[in-house]
Amino acid sequence: MLVNPGHWAGRRVLVTGHTGFKGAWLSLWLREMGAEVAGLALAPEEPSLFSQIGLDGLIDHVEGDIRDADLVDQVVARVRPQTVFHLAAQPLVRLSYDQPRETFATNVLGTAHVLDACRRVEGLEAIVAVTSDKCYENREWVWPYRESDPMGGHDPYSASKGAAELVISSYRNSFFHAGEGPLLASVRAGNVIGGGDWAKDRLVPDIVRAIIDDRSVYIRSPGSVRPWQHVLEALGGYLLIAQHLAAGHDWAASAWNFGPAAQDTRPVGWIVDKMIERWGRGSFELDTAPQPHEANLLMLDCSKARAQLGWRPAFDLRQTIDWIVDWHSQVAQGGDALAITRGQLQTYKTLLDAALTESDPS
Ligand SMILES: NC(=O)c1ccc[n+]([C@@H]2O[C@H](COP(=O)([O-])OP(=O)(O)OC[C@H]3O[C@@H](n4cnc5c(N)ncnc54)[C@H](O)[C@@H]3O)[C@@H](O)[C@H]2O)c1
Repeated sequence: MLVNPGHWAGRRVLVTGHTGFKGAWLSLWLREMGAEVAGLALAPEEPSLFSQIGLDGLIDHVEGDIRDADLVDQVVARVRPQTVFHLAAQPLVRLSYDQPRETFATNVLGTAHVLDACRRVEGLEAIVAVTSDKCYENREWVWPYRESDPMGGHDPYSASKGAAELVISSYRNSFFHAGEGPLLASVRAGNVIGGGDWAKDRLVPDIVRAIIDDRSVYIRSPGSVRPWQHVLEALGGYLLIAQHLAAGHDWAASAWNFGPAAQDTRPVGWIVDKMIERWGRGSFELDTAPQPHEANLLMLDCSKARAQLGWRPAFDLRQTIDWIVDWHSQVAQGGDALAITRGQLQTYKTLLDAALTESDPS
């Protein structure tokens, strides 16, 4: 199966977290395929991809807090989505140490509010709930995690995503069965990167800000290894899962890892070097201040997505870095962010179709 614009044209889709990095890319992709997109999230934190591409003029933009169950109910009832992508979350490990209660409230209870509201929507076919590769109990070992591995989480963010997985699995087992309503899947991606990410305390945005401001970037853990991939790689996987759910394929109503090829699971220091090299300027210094605990080694096993969906990455980490530097350097020089983002999306769609066709020639 390919990502099929015919499936999305005219489809009512609710994206929570559309003012964030992944949600803005996903909303634009859906809009480009002709979906009627509504978004529910907090106001964007500026600068944001959401504002840079003028997303509020392209979709039905609703500002609201998913910790408010009544508001979530009202928005979902008004939008009457056929597909829901739930991305809204407090997504930062370090912030979760400062705001553990808020992180659990948004990521765990907020997920329950969204899923609960979904129980009352007629015509809803598919729900894709986004958690994280950090939902796994991290054993700091060399083997990649599989969907069947136990949930866990040392820091509050990781634990909140493990807990969200349990909420999702409970709603699936209790309420969302094939033939009786929507099908529900959870998706666990690695560290997604791309143009337009401005989050605080994240590696690529930190590097971009430092290069644009002509100062050194402070790097905390150059040896930490992460599964890096372009944001569009993960989103392509989410769209495919949603199509399978809407087609009533109950095998798709489960958990899915989406990550890069093994060779693109790289240390932080490699990303820093490559971005500075590709941009042609920039420097870094080691941040030696004491840091809260963060996992050192995290890899994902994506055999399930490959075998059952025919999904695989459409390009590699070097191309990803090229695209990020192209996006940010062009926008920094006054380029039209919407046109640049649309251009990358169009190119990516062609690459993804080729990758999916190659892995499933039928
Ligand atoms: N970026 C990554 O590398 C990565 C990796 C794995 C998983 N994820 C997950 O993907 C999703 C999107 O992440 P992102 O990188 O786009 O983050 P982001 O910070 O750019 O966006 C987060 C979105 O959630 C919304 N949000 C936060 N709290 C909310 C609340 N209480 N009520 C309503 N909306 C709220 C924000 O307004 C924003 O729209 C999250 O669930 C995150 O945990 C991200």
